[in-house]
Amino acid sequence: MARIIGGITSSHIPAIGNAIERNQQQEPYWKDFFDGYPPIHAWLEQQQPDVAVIFYNDHGLEFFIDKKPTFAIGAATQYNNADEGWGIKTIPPVNGHEDLSWHICNQLVDDEFDITICQEMRIDHGVTVPLQLMWPGYSYGHMKVIPVAINCEQHPMPSPKRCFNLGRSMGKAIESYEEDLKVVILGTGGMSHQLDGERAGFINKEFDLMCMDKIVDRPEELLHYSIRDLVEIAGAQGPEFIMWLGMRGALIGKVKELHRNYHIPISNTGAGTMLLENK
Ligand code: DHB
Ligand code: FE
Repeated sequence: MARIIGGITSSHIPAIGNAIERNQQQEPYWKDFFDGYPPIHAWLEQQQPDVAVIFYNDHGLEFFIDKKPTFAIGAATQYNNADEGWGIKTIPPVNGHEDLSWHICNQLVDDEFDITICQEMRIDHGVTVPLQLMWPGYSYGHMKVIPVAINCEQHPMPSPKRCFNLGRSMGKAIESYEEDLKVVILGTGGMSHQLDGERAGFINKEFDLMCMDKIVDRPEELLHYSIRDLVEIAGAQGPEFIMWLGMRGALIGKVKELHRNYHIPISNTGAGTMLLENK
């Protein structure tokens, strides 16, 4: 049977893609941030996951504000990155696990989630930057990817609780898949940030650290927030934290924190990196 081995959270800021391309990882601005990744590299190297399911938000590349699925899941054999206007280099296509995608989609519809199933889906920095951070030099080997996009650009957005429950349903689906696969779940984005408007640059460190504490073994204490609460407490783009909750929902076993790093600011954002093992 397929098994979920753990969850990883990461920022997905496009500037990180630029820093990687220019090899700036050890420069003073970037060092503390990039130093948060080697423990994750070591764990991935040891675990060798077969599939990475990636919760992220599409920032207007595949789904613009005129057509915005609340939940969209890739069911393709390949995903292409496209120039999304941030000036970051595109990455080569990544392979999908079409059959596991369909298995997950069937379970989600049975569980009354109204998803958009995408047999073609271009992926943006929400997926590609974390892939580059976790697997430097595109070193995914045989690993396949399933992108799961949650709307976080156009109100109304799904609540933290609903995203956690989506993750739960996906976790059940994955663990009922017959093939012996090791699956890792990524939640990308967050933490507190606001990119424009009067509060541009707003970061709430105290809130971010509280979320990192609670997501390990008390995630249910994070589910009462509304999207409006997150905007107020964590900035206009703070709701990206729902990707973390999707990831956490999918971890059904006993969860142990193996590693964390928090760094502010990277660009305009509180950057949180976590590695959670699922027993
Ligand atoms: C930044 C953060 C994001 O989440 C994003 O999607 C784009 C940019 C930033 O802080 O620069
Ligand atoms: Fe973002």
